[in-house]
Amino acid sequence: EAELIHMFKGIPFTIRSSPELLKSLDTFDAREDDVLLVSYPKSGTHWLAGVTAKLYNTQVTLTSPIEFGDISKLEELNKLSSKRIIPTHLDYNMLPPNFKKKKCKMIYISRNPKDTAVSMYHYYRDNPNLPTVDTWTAFFDLFVKGDVVCGSWFDHFLSWEEHANDKNILFLFYEDMKKDLPKIVKEISLFLGLNVSDNDIQDICKKSSFSEMKSDTEKENSDPSHTVCALTSNRRLIFRKGAVGDWKNHFTPKQNRRFEEIFNEKMKLSKMAKSLTYEF
Ligand code: A3P
Repeated sequence: EAELIHMFKGIPFTIRSSPELLKSLDTFDAREDDVLLVSYPKSGTHWLAGVTAKLYNTQVTLTSPIEFGDISKLEELNKLSSKRIIPTHLDYNMLPPNFKKKKCKMIYISRNPKDTAVSMYHYYRDNPNLPTVDTWTAFFDLFVKGDVVCGSWFDHFLSWEEHANDKNILFLFYEDMKKDLPKIVKEISLFLGLNVSDNDIQDICKKSSFSEMKSDTEKENSDPSHTVCALTSNRRLIFRKGAVGDWKNHFTPKQNRRFEEIFNEKMKLSKMAKSLTYEF
């Protein structure tokens, strides 16, 4: 079991991200027109990717996550002739420096960490690439300590928040997508410099609802072995509930108090903490 995980620069990765690949990321050759989709796991990565890929009417390739695979990965991405949309769960510090130098566009999606924790708990239970956890209580402790794959939610968020005002970075929240998807899709299209009609936006939103995406995956309208999460290739593990506030069905009052204490402490310098806590 322990061999499912290895540490790289202090962060737990699954063995699906080889140490050689992780080491080579520093030399990765970015292209100016690359678009990065960035998230901590279980924040709505597939939802964002589905929407973004549909906005283009030119040839684009939604690749597998940059940190997924072995050393041949970089070669594989180099060979792609079309524009690349590249997902990643890396924190800002581990991101290949070339993406920063070339000011590639990056979209960061984040979600109420309480719901992220609950979603990740179910993922740990269902995903054979992740270690076993027996109970929600046990997982809650691992999550708040950052002893989970991709490390601490807080560190990840803070590393990206520091760059939230960079011109090439767009910050999004899962809860805003739930509230008004057309508005956010419009925002994404403007950020990417795409001219998308309101009709097309409506259409994209319809095709990107939780139920549509889930049933597409079950009917294999989309390739069920292609995910934008480095932690599984099984799309069927992704579409669980798709709701805001499921944490209320899992957190005990005591866990909730402990979480808020840790949140307030870790996020005391965060300007965005408020946007994340409106559902607390
Ligand atoms: P739940 O486990 O709470 O249901 P990621 O893509 O980063 O792995 O995130 C997965 C989470 O996003 C899951 O949360 C999943 O159900 C939710 N999700 C995926 N597609 C969605 C959609 N179209 N609308 C709302 N939520 C969606």
